[in-house]
Amino acid sequence: MKILITAGPTREYLDPVRFLSNPSTGKMGYAIAQAAQQKGHEVVLVSGPTHLTPPWGIQVFNVKSADQMHKKVLELFDWADGVIMTAAVSDFKPKMKLLQKVKKEGDEVDPLELVRTPDILFELGKDKKGKWLVGFAAESENLLANAQKKLASKNLDMIVANDISQQEAGFEHDTNIVHLLYPDGSEEGLPKMSKSEVAQILIEKIERKFAS
Ligand code: CTP
Repeated sequence: MKILITAGPTREYLDPVRFLSNPSTGKMGYAIAQAAQQKGHEVVLVSGPTHLTPPWGIQVFNVKSADQMHKKVLELFDWADGVIMTAAVSDFKPKMKLLQKVKKEGDEVDPLELVRTPDILFELGKDKKGKWLVGFAAESENLLANAQKKLASKNLDMIVANDISQQEAGFEHDTNIVHLLYPDGSEEGLPKMSKSEVAQILIEKIERKFAS
């Protein structure tokens, strides 16, 4: 299969040196890219800023902002059979990016006036063009109910829910504890395991569900 994977955080700049972001390291997305490549799939990675070395042989497009990620994903969508969005995309960005560094004194502009960024998966879900879509849901409460809502509202074929309030799961950890949810209402929980083990299982599930 041709698999488009997004990973890492986005950065929403308010001036040349300051940005809004989150603690995503990209580990989950890079592990999935590697697992997919090892199984013989063609993989393209669209990555926000991370400190990771991309798996050898995988084409990587580096982006910073949600808008840049949106544009690159739309460009690559026709190529792909399916998309796995692990990226922790910022939902808001500063209304304006100031050209010069904000000074403590003298400027009346509020640099933190925010506007929404595009919801990339939601946009893809409106016209799937026959492709499968897998999302991630990072939740701090009501894990399964919130993930189920995202699965439906974004018209996804699978969502991987992780409870970021648990020890050793989610952002910055090498391990993860995930639940997989499907549109027919079925759900399965996986025990705590390394992100590379989660990635391998996920790719096997995706092969079983979506490979033609
Ligand atoms: N996502 C996206 N574009 C955004 C925000 C999120 O494509 N602007 C994708 C993420 O990559 C993930 C899924 O949507 O696969 C769910 O992301 P999450 O941050 O858990 O949820 P949100 O849709 O942002 O909703 P909320 O922040 O209200 O929980």
